[in-house]
Amino acid sequence: MSLIIRTENIDRDFISGRETVHALKNVNIKIERGMLTILRGRSGSGKTTLINLLGALDYPTKGKVFFDDKDITHMHQTERDELRRKDMGFIFQSVALISLMSAYENVEFALRIAGFGLKERRDRASECLNLVGLAKRMTHRPGELSGGEQQRVAIARAISHKPKIVFADEPTAELDTAMGIQVVGIFRKLIEIEGVTIVMTTHDPSMLDLADRVYTLEDGEIVNE
Ligand SMILES: Nc1ncnc2c1ncn2[C@@H]1O[C@H](COP(=O)(O)OP(=O)(O)OP(=O)(O)O)[C@@H](O)[C@H]1O
Ligand SMILES: [Mg+2]
Repeated sequence: MSLIIRTENIDRDFISGRETVHALKNVNIKIERGMLTILRGRSGSGKTTLINLLGALDYPTKGKVFFDDKDITHMHQTERDELRRKDMGFIFQSVALISLMSAYENVEFALRIAGFGLKERRDRASECLNLVGLAKRMTHRPGELSGGEQQRVAIARAISHKPKIVFADEPTAELDTAMGIQVVGIFRKLIEIEGVTIVMTTHDPSMLDLADRVYTLEDGEIVNE
């Protein structure tokens, strides 16, 4: 097995006023390459805090995060930015698409920001929308798409620059169960076709069967090791 990310005794404390919230306590997890890992747990259990640390969006109070065997907790900020930009993709609960742009333009625009040339942008934007099953909806704007379709555009955008890993924080929370399962099915397909690694959070038990690996968080601790 090949690990893309591992954490070493992570704590994350938040200080608010006089109180300290221990959002994560001694978390050790391993993310395997080319697999779908689900982080589950109740609201407030620490899922978002953990996925933000894995995605180099935040620093742990204690412990280390390793990406491709490199300690990213002590990496220079610019190096972390570069890592996020090149090797990582992000999908959030509320789909942040640009409402005046079509599905195609949303993906193409992300590729333009990532510095891809015109031809490559065209080919890759179409390819990604095809992969998520939206070939026939490319010219639709977000307002002309269903919630599940909008989330699929966000997925196409997140994988367009060929990241090694995609982080999805509650990507199915605003969808009904059937649509949620469809979205996770697309994740499985992307793993198979593009060889990407996916980490997602959810509190919906109906998604768990589709994962290769599930970590359960309770009150900031991993409880199913
Ligand atoms: N910036 C912050 N300042 C203070 N406390 C915070 C901060 N961010 C998170 N917390 C606290 O840390 C704990 C974990 O929060 P987190 O957002 O990781 O939970 P979650 O599992 O993602 O919940 P949800 O399912 O509601 O998204 C919670 O008790 C939360 O109140
Ligand atoms: Mg959360």
